[in-house]
Amino acid sequence: VTTSRDSGELDPKRLPGHVAIVMDGNGRWAAKQGLSRLKGHDAGAKSVRAAIEACRELGGIRTLTLYAFSTENWRRSKAEVSGLFRLLAKYIRTEMDNLHAEDIRVRFIGRRAGLPENVTALMDDSEKRTNANRAMQVNFAINYGARAEIADAVRSIAEDLRSSKIRPDAIDEAMIAARLYDPVSADLDLLIRTGGHHRLSNFMLWQASYAEIVVTPTLWPDFRKRHLHQAFLDFQERDRNFGGRPRA
Ligand code: IPE
Ligand code: IPE
Ligand code: MG
Repeated sequence: VTTSRDSGELDPKRLPGHVAIVMDGNGRWAAKQGLSRLKGHDAGAKSVRAAIEACRELGGIRTLTLYAFSTENWRRSKAEVSGLFRLLAKYIRTEMDNLHAEDIRVRFIGRRAGLPENVTALMDDSEKRTNANRAMQVNFAINYGARAEIADAVRSIAEDLRSSKIRPDAIDEAMIAARLYDPVSADLDLLIRTGGHHRLSNFMLWQASYAEIVVTPTLWPDFRKRHLHQAFLDFQERDRNFGGRPRA
């Protein structure tokens, strides 16, 4: 059924509390106009700004998590990888003042080890600076892999077991969730993937367990506020059962 309303109105009381976006399609966007892949990544920064602004404006969205670099993305050419980190550093340097002014708390989720030092320094600095901000949290997933995240949580629990801080029967879902990279945000409500592929690519396997999924063919550099609003409208059309009875 095609239930998505094209010009419907968003219900401000039923916005997804935690939204995540797999920002895919930069390379294809660039290829379509005969540009290098890096030009596509560079253009994606505008879409990041638009998505954050749109969520901030709506209010009601507590956390926005943006997938920017996966643990598998190291398989790309050296030039693309180093270019991505150069663009990331540029993004943080140019955008952080504005994010801070908007009362946005910035976190970086993923493994810091292996990242260029200038980048981790910028990450640490941004997190410190925006730590007390409360309007919304934005997580940038960098060198993020959901399996790595779960493995890191398991290792941290194992260390507490070895030192007898906890007993095996204390291990439950809440304890695992509390040891993920973002222990404060709620589970994902809405997972958006641009670029048309219907897959998770090792993203938030734990947190997405009951997420609503919206895949749009729009390539990330073309993604603007209206596309986000459309995804929210789609979300508001869904019946979320969480395993219980469907709504009559
Ligand atoms: C997503 O765009 C950005 C990153 C993974 C860093 P891609 O670079 O994957 O773009 P496509 O999928 O090749 O079009
Ligand atoms: C997912 O996109 C990762 C990010 C958007 C950061 P990819 O382009 O890396 O995913 P695959 O390789 O197509 O699964
Ligand atoms: Mg891709």
